[in-house]
Amino acid sequence: MNNQGSPDRIIIFDTTLRDGEQSPGATLNVDEKLTIARQLARLRVDVIEAGFPFASSGDFEAVQKIAQNVGTEEGPTICGLARATRQDIQTAAEALKPAFRPRIHTFIATSDIHLKYKLKKSRAEVLEIAPEMVAFAKSFVEDVEFSPEDAGRSDPEFLYQVIERAIAAGATTINIPDTVGYTTPSEFGALIKGIKENVPNIDQAIISVHGHNDLGLAVANFLEAVKNGARQLECTINGIGERAGNAALEELVMALHVRRQYYNPFFGRPAESEEPLTQIDTRQIYKTSRLVSSLTGMLVQPNKAIVGANAFAHESGIHQDGVLKNKLTYEIMDAQSIGLTDNQIVLGKHSGRNAFRTRLRELGFELSEDELNKAFVKFKDLADKKKEITDWDLEAIANDEIQQA
Ligand code: KIV
Ligand code: ZN
Repeated sequence: MNNQGSPDRIIIFDTTLRDGEQSPGATLNVDEKLTIARQLARLRVDVIEAGFPFASSGDFEAVQKIAQNVGTEEGPTICGLARATRQDIQTAAEALKPAFRPRIHTFIATSDIHLKYKLKKSRAEVLEIAPEMVAFAKSFVEDVEFSPEDAGRSDPEFLYQVIERAIAAGATTINIPDTVGYTTPSEFGALIKGIKENVPNIDQAIISVHGHNDLGLAVANFLEAVKNGARQLECTINGIGERAGNAALEELVMALHVRRQYYNPFFGRPAESEEPLTQIDTRQIYKTSRLVSSLTGMLVQPNKAIVGANAFAHESGIHQDGVLKNKLTYEIMDAQSIGLTDNQIVLGKHSGRNAFRTRLRELGFELSEDELNKAFVKFKDLADKKKEITDWDLEAIANDEIQQA
């Protein structure tokens, strides 16, 4: 790291077990949370937000167990969420005690909408409470993160004052949440830029971002924030989370990986540097996605970027032909880089002769040109009637042709 506020890589803060678990229907029990936390450590996330200890005794126990079993010297930082109240903070500190690197994440809203309708507090009160609670958290742990909730809809001038006071009270990370997924990428980037330029002590803290996907913009917003100095990204596996979810970890990590030449200069590196921008073991991504999906019961849509069933599948003849000649024609990353064995050539009505022949060869059939032509006609005929052609179908077609010859 160069200094506290500007590490020379991205810190990945995973909140699958806290904000992700806030997805309707995604509740996890303590053992399931521990299983996911172990896998997140294999994925090499920097910080695991393990839960909200004051919210329930189950969450307290989960945070404590994860702190004990995953938050080891070699493991990630373990974080617990707390509202800006003494009880919440004390409970989080207690649950986090077994962690080698504990972090308390405390938050209070700063938007006028939240102040008026939810907190029923004035700006002046929030200006008092935020630093007081950061200092209280600091009396338990060194590592304190502060979030001005609904920052995306807060008055920037007021936000600057709250942030400055939180840092002066000891916050080491300042997290900027777009709580309701309202901002656009250029607005969110400008918000981060404004914070960097207008908060005098901002260099003493790491700028983090947190965002929801109500308009489908969370990942795009984060990438813009990175260009403007954000160095911690708060995200979840498969993008699960409140309402439309949070920014998806796999999308952020792979965007920074695949497009590192574009992002390198924002980290003061030469564009061609091959040094990774995160410490994530990308080959663990697919396995982690499957685990989270099966334990939360939240299915991954087939066309989901990076981890969807179709993300590395090719169906049309033109694409299949291209990929069989050279993967670079239609793939911007290797299936292996996220832990899959290979891409997938799906045979269906759009497929061409090259893909058909290749799959038959893989299944052990070497047909003459004439046999292949006839078999291909039968295949197209069947493909018009079925959504997807299986290997059983292909074997039946090939055997039929060989017998007739
Ligand atoms: O969305 C949000 O604002 C949050 C905060 C608690 C960081 O989840
Ligand atoms: Zn959130």
